[in-house]
Amino acid sequence: MRISIKKAAQLLQNHQVIAVPTETVYGLAAWLKSPQAIETLFDLKKRPRENPLIIHVKSSEEALSYISEKPPQLETLMKTFWPGPLTLIAPVFVDRIPEAARAGLTTAAFRMPSHPVLHELLEEISPLVAPSANLSGRPSATSAEHVENDFGNTFPVLDGGACHHGVESTIIAFVEGKWALARRGAIAEEALREVIGYYPEEALIGKRPISPGQLFRHYAPKARLFLSPPEHSVATMVGFSDRQYPGYTKVYYLGSSSNPQEVSHRLYRILRQLDEDGVPEAVVDMQMAEDGLWKTIRERLSKASAF
Ligand code: TXA
Ligand code: MG
Repeated sequence: MRISIKKAAQLLQNHQVIAVPTETVYGLAAWLKSPQAIETLFDLKKRPRENPLIIHVKSSEEALSYISEKPPQLETLMKTFWPGPLTLIAPVFVDRIPEAARAGLTTAAFRMPSHPVLHELLEEISPLVAPSANLSGRPSATSAEHVENDFGNTFPVLDGGACHHGVESTIIAFVEGKWALARRGAIAEEALREVIGYYPEEALIGKRPISPGQLFRHYAPKARLFLSPPEHSVATMVGFSDRQYPGYTKVYYLGSSSNPQEVSHRLYRILRQLDEDGVPEAVVDMQMAEDGLWKTIRERLSKASAF
């Protein structure tokens, strides 16, 4: 059910969970000041309680009011990448953030989204905690239709169109004297390097707190994906619009092999389309570059193909 910004703010204030658009993927949002709504959110998503949420703020100042100890370059990172798809983890005043939102940790994750519709909502009510608006394990939702497919047509959705980036935010934390990646995402490591002076460490990828994004099979359609052609013949290909795939009955196009932005924008939509069409298995063309956003795309496809 599509709702207005005003209605969205009312529902959140009344401790309800709604779906909101962001520039990365749709989020399942609850008001940070409603522990009750945060509980509902975990239940709805069937999300493990030990997996903390991202706090979506309307400004850097709002985020800073929760942060007890500022890691070096924190404010420079905020100034450079906010509003936008960079999530920053920092130590917090624990009494200002419900325990459930931070899964009992003494740190929390913050981001200031750039989506204009969400920004307007945050001006009405903030901060909002929001994990991706998909059932746990499924590809994230990048349109209002995707959210309705997972949570039903009566679920309240603030429709902000198709998400620009199409993959989740990049998450970094400061550990042992350096910024480290906790999850690859829409901001490339090269862009972070320009600001912090080095490539972020990869030490946190795959480490606790256990995040679904770090589990092996994730972002996954029901269809079985092969990253190279298997021994038996497969009818469906997931590939690039500037290439030919003779021998395949059906090809799903991710976009051009020279446009990672287009490919990330379409990635989850294509993975969900496979299931809607009842495709049992498909080969993925993994011949793509390895730098920038391609790194994120490769990783998401690998996780989607694990079984
Ligand atoms: O683009 C995005 O980030 C989307 C949109 C909706 O904003 N949100 C999103 O949320 O992807 P979610 O819950 O699917 O992923 C949040 C990740 C999880 O992997 C969680 O473990 C990690 O952030 N996280 C949150 N707080 C953390 C903390 N204090 N320390 C380490 N990881 C944390
Ligand atoms: Mg997620």
